This record gives sequence, C-alpha cells and structure tokens, in this order.
Amino acid sequence: MGGAEGRHLSCTTEPEALMSPSPKSPSPKSKGQIPGVPGSEAPSLAEPTEPREPLATRPDQRPPAAVSATGSPTGAPGTARAQSGAYLTTAQGVRLPDTDHSLKVGARGPTLLQDHHLREKITHFDHERIPERVVHARGAAAHGVFRGYGSAEQITMAGFLAKDVETPVFVRFSNVVGSRGSADTVRDTRGFATKFYTEQGTFDLVGNNIPVFFIQDGIKFPDIVHAAKPHPDVEIPQAQSAHDTFWDFVSLHTEATAHVMWQMSDRGIPRSWRMMEGFGVHTFRLVNTDGETTLAKFHWKPAAGVHSLFWEEAQMVSGVDPDFHRRDLANAIEAGAYPEWEFGIQAFPDTDDQTFEGIDLLDPSKLVPEELAPVQPIGRLTLNANPTNYFAETEQVAFHPGHLVPGIDITDDPLLHARLFSYLDTQLSRLGGPNFAQIPINRPHAPINDMLRDGMHQSADQAGVAPYKPNSLDGGCPFTAGAGMGGYVEVPQRVTAAAKVRESPSSYADHLSQPRLFWLSLTPIEQEHTIEAFTFELGKCYETPIRQRQLQVLANVDSALCAGVAAGLGLPAPDATEEVTSPRPSPALSQVGQRWPTMGRTIGIIVDQASDLGAVRGVKEAVTGGGMVPLIIAPRGGTLGSSADELVVQRTFLTARSVEFDAILVAGGPTDKGSDAVGGEAAGDPRVALMLGEAFRHAKALGGWGQAGATLSAAGCDEGAPGVVLGQDATQVLAQVVELLGEHRVWARFPAGPS
Ligand code: HEM
Repeated sequence: MGGAEGRHLSCTTEPEALMSPSPKSPSPKSKGQIPGVPGSEAPSLAEPTEPREPLATRPDQRPPAAVSATGSPTGAPGTARAQSGAYLTTAQGVRLPDTDHSLKVGARGPTLLQDHHLREKITHFDHERIPERVVHARGAAAHGVFRGYGSAEQITMAGFLAKDVETPVFVRFSNVVGSRGSADTVRDTRGFATKFYTEQGTFDLVGNNIPVFFIQDGIKFPDIVHAAKPHPDVEIPQAQSAHDTFWDFVSLHTEATAHVMWQMSDRGIPRSWRMMEGFGVHTFRLVNTDGETTLAKFHWKPAAGVHSLFWEEAQMVSGVDPDFHRRDLANAIEAGAYPEWEFGIQAFPDTDDQTFEGIDLLDPSKLVPEELAPVQPIGRLTLNANPTNYFAETEQVAFHPGHLVPGIDITDDPLLHARLFSYLDTQLSRLGGPNFAQIPINRPHAPINDMLRDGMHQSADQAGVAPYKPNSLDGGCPFTAGAGMGGYVEVPQRVTAAAKVRESPSSYADHLSQPRLFWLSLTPIEQEHTIEAFTFELGKCYETPIRQRQLQVLANVDSALCAGVAAGLGLPAPDATEEVTSPRPSPALSQVGQRWPTMGRTIGIIVDQASDLGAVRGVKEAVTGGGMVPLIIAPRGGTLGSSADELVVQRTFLTARSVEFDAILVAGGPTDKGSDAVGGEAAGDPRVALMLGEAFRHAKALGGWGQAGATLSAAGCDEGAPGVVLGQDATQVLAQVVELLGEHRVWARFPAGPS
C-alpha cells in the first residue's frame, strides 16, 4: 500500500558506491519516502520472465568492506560476495533447468538418489542455522562511521581518537535474555556493541545501555544467566525476568540490586535503540605516547536523547510489532535520519587504590555520577547504512572485549577478566571453528600476519614455509613490533603481593548506596514506573517467600519504594535491616525534563472523508521536511483525493495501533462545513477512539484542526487537557505538537510528573 509511494530507489546503484570501503553513507536522503521499502525495485504484478543480473542492493544498505581474509583492501566491488549471473545454478555454478521437481522415475516416483540438486539443496538447508548466542541472541546492527575529536589525544595514543580521523564501525544492539526470535520491547538490559575497524587493528567496545552490572566477578555469569533464562523444565517465560528463578537469585544476591533498579526503571524498556545511552561499564586504562596512564569509563550519549516506552506500550508492541526496535533502526537509516551518539569519557587519575571519590573503579556494579566526573566528548558515531545480509553480518559478527588497540588497556576488574576468556571461547562453537575472524564482517582493516594456521573454514591462503618464530626460511618474517612501531604493549602495571584467595575486596560489600543513589535521582513519574515494574515482576512470581525476600532488599534501598511495591503485592512492607547513607542525587540519571531533536519520529495523521486534504498534504510535507515520518491513517486502504494529487494511505483504522506513533494528528474538515464534517468516519469509529485514548494515556502529544475536536473529545482527549492542541491552522497545530514531542512525552499529564 504505502510502500509504493515515494519509491525513489533505483536498481542501478552506482557500482562505485558499492566498491568503496568508505564509511560514508551510500545513500542520499530521499525526502518524502516512507521507510520500509523491501527491495531496490518495485515488483511487477506478473512474475518476471526475462533473465537478468541480480538487482543491486537498496541505497541504504552496505556490505562489509572489501578486504581480504588477511586484511588487504581487494579493490573488488562490494557486490563481489553477492550472488551473480542471471541463471539459477548449483553451488558449483552449473545452470539448472528446474528447481521445483525432484528427479523421479515417472511423474509419480519414486524419487532418485542420483538427484544432486535435490540433495544439495536440502542438505544446505538442513545446516542453515548456527547456535544462537548464549546471551544477547536477539539483536540487529548497522554500519556507520566514527570521527574522533582529538580531545583525548593528551591521555591516549589510540589513533582512531585523533582529530578528524574517520573509522568505519559496525554496531550491534541486542537484548540479553531472549532467544533469537523473541520480542524487541521486553524489559531487559540492552547490549550496545561497537566494532571499530581502526588502522591499528580492531577495537571492540562491548557495552550495555546500563552502566552497572549484576555481578562483580565474572565467575558468577553462568549463575545470573541461568537464573534469568526461562525455567529449565518448561522453558517459560521467554525473554523476561518476571519469574521465580530470576527473583530467587537476585533477592539472595544483593550485589545485583543496582542493576535491577535500572532494569525496573524506564531504562529497561527503551523507546528506540537510537534513544539509549551506552556504557563500557568497566573502567579502562588509557595510555598516551609518554606512557602516562589515566583511568576512564566510556559513554555513548544519543543525539536524540534518552527515551523509553511506557510499560503498557512495551507490552502491546511485543504483540503488534515484535520487531519494533530493529524496524525503527533500519527505517531511520533508510529515511536518512541517521542515528548519532557522542562518544565520551569520564577520566580519573590512575591512583594506587584505583578509587574516585570513595567509589572503587574496579567494581563494575558501581557508576561514578556525572556531577562528580563530567563526561567529556571525544568523538561522534553516525550509523548510516543497513547491513546487506542479516546472517552474514549481524549474526556472524563476533565482538570481544579483548580486542584492544594501542592506547587502551584493561584494568583488574574481575568481571572484565572473565569476559576476556569467555567471548573467544563461545565463538569457537557458535561460529564453527577458529577462523571466524576471516568472516567478512569480522575482518580487520589492518594487515594480518598472525602465524595462526589451518583449521575449519580457513579462507586465507598463506604463503611461506615457516609459520613459526624464530625462523630463517621465511626471512625471519613476520617481525615483532615494539611500541615505536605500533605494537600493542601492555601497560607495565605493578601488582601488589598478596595471597591467592577466592574473595572480593571489602569495598565491594556496599550493595545499597548506588541503588539508593539511582532511586533518589529519578523524578516522581519515573519512581512510579519503577514501583509498577517491581510490582509487575514480583507479582508474576509464584512463591511468596521470594517476593518477601526481595521486599526486604527494597526496604533497605528506600522505604517509599518498598511500601509502594508491597502495597501493590498486598504484602506487608518490612522495615529496613541495614542503614544506608543517602548519596546526593545525580540529575543526569533522570530521563525527564530536557528537550531533544525530533528527527526520525513517527507522526500518525488520521484522515477521513470529511478531512481537508489540502491541509493534510501541507502537514505531511512539513513533517517530512522536519526529518520525521508521516503515516496517513484512513478508514480504508488505497488513496485519497484526486488522481493528480493523490494521498497514499499507509495504515487503516483496522491496521493501526497507537504504539506505532510518537504523536497523532486528527485532520478535521473545514469549519465552514459545519456539522457534516463532525460526522466524519473517524469521529464515530471505536478503533480511532481507542487509538487516541491509548496515546493520551501514554502521554503522547495530540493535535487536530478544523472539526477534529469532536473526534478527540469522543476519545476523552478534551481541548484544554495538557498536550492536546486544537486550532484552525493545521501547520500551526503541527508546530505545537512537534514542540511537545521535543520533550518526548507530555509529562504534565501525570499528577505525579514534574510540574
Ligand atoms: C559489563 C558486563 C558485560 C557487558 C556489558 C556485556 C555485553 C555483551 C554484549 C553487548 C554482548 C553481545 C555482543 C554481540 O552483539 O554480539 C555480549 C555477549 C556475550 N557475553 Fe557479555 N557482557 C558482560 C558480561 C559478560 C560476562 C561476565 C560474561 C562471561 C563471563 C559474558 C559473556 C558473554 C557471551 C558468552 C556472549 C555471547 C558472545 C557471542 O556469542 O558472540 N558477558 N555481552
């Protein structure tokens, strides 16, 4: 339906654009195009019969760079790894006359074993799946570019952070708990993994959207993951923490409390991956050319601001559009609203005790408030191309926190050390052997001369006879590189003499002050959402002792938090058993109260036979002009208006739900049409009333012009209510709605919200 409108894409993407490994966007923004176009060319009604070469990819897509398995630019076109030729072939390139009928003795069989095509086709199909990631299985990714500001040059020699250096990147966002096919909008932590293809080798920053972690020592990772995954007997529930084993574990394991507070807050249900912060979590050690070191925490700050769904929205989206986040990312890139983040660091002196303001920097369950250590911008990330093939790129990409470049080193965080072992180990089985670094998406953009040889799926063709050192037969090649030659030299770090023990430092014992810091930093509406989330999750537990145990943890964090959850569960609120200091709140931890750009937001426009289509056209253009996506919602599909200037309908009253839109406009009829216009189909349709009522409840901006007031008030959205904009001039109404959208929600609609 709507996909046909504004299809400005052509199947003749310039080969040059595909050849270049440049991180630049391959596609100019196509103004007015509704994103979601499936292919690069509109299909014909009848099945095509004329043989032709495969169509080019869409302009918004980019394959991995054309480098060899050993890191050399090949100069080959980006399409070199795509299928080629106009005719169907076997895997050996032999053309095939038929792929619908197996070779049989007569039309009624039996089928013959000699049918190579049948066996090859079925055999390959039988092996199409690989093991999904043991965690973070559900995700999607995009290509982009990172540009350094040079502001970190004093403290790190990392070349990609130097001023105006541009580095290609591949970023994968993910959910932690759910399987590959689970819904995007479940309450969970989100992964934010970035592969920087730097000239000094690949740097992976494998982070999350939550700056604190569940556990302080990686040896407990299998425990937390087993607890969070579905119950092992019935494999229920999928992709959520609202169940007994999760709360059993975290209520007994109070070091998880800080992370759980974040997860139960609105941070656990992001509106979009584009609207999430990212955190490296661990403290890293940066080193400059003079060998001086600085401790640092990495941050990603989204240009679009940090925004979340409401819980009811998240639940509805799980059913209405389980692919909500991956669709949002792909659509934004296709529409040219490129997601952007500022890369920043909090920098700390590298002192012997590795603490800052009393916070142990090696404890990954703790953050450092930005008010104490501001985040300093050091570069910018722009995602500007969608992958060409999900499996080849997004599924096969392999991140590793040990992929470091000169200038960035690790600290002794025991969580990080276990990770350094885990990723390579799991990828050996997930990707079927030791050569997965040669898969195109994982290939570094730096020369590879590693003396690693053979193994399953080897695609390099190494020359020479002496893959060992020392050698003379290969001329001594390859040679080692000291720091002066770009070698990665671990920072010489003094290790304090101590006994071998299985224990944590005493500074790790405080599990409550940071959850309390987070709680006190939230606005009333965010606190209310957090209470509701705890109530929902614990309400889903079968066992009362588990609820009671978690209530005790909450009582020790904050009595009001505990009382709110206890009231919802119908259980008594216990008194605190531990005394917690009250840290100074950190306003930076709240999402509410700022203004943000509205690029890439979706505005629904409800139109019926009474609407002024001229005004709708003007509004639609203004929405597109502002970098947002207008979707026309009408009683029926097809087009509205005259054929010369027709308006394509993208959604109908049957197919639209409020959760797809950030704001909704009701296109009323001209006022001089009097009561006839009020009688438009939108005014009386219960699906429209439901849509508007939900949007109102979810604090979305609503607007209307002409006679739209009747439709809105029929849904309980009266003129004068906060965030309900009515007027006669459609463009002015839109301007006010966009103004409201800049704050993400109409927070004033909640009595508990900030005034
Ligand atoms: C600060 C703590 C941690 C963060 C931020 C984190 C983040 C991530 C992210 C973002 C991914 C998905 C990567 C992708 O998109 O492919 C991932 C995967 C994974 N993580 Fe972690 N993780 C953390 C702790 C741990 C620990 C402690 C372990 C084990 C000791 C672990 C083991 C894994 C494994 C096995 C995978 C799957 C990797 C693959 O199959 O490619 N993680 N993690």
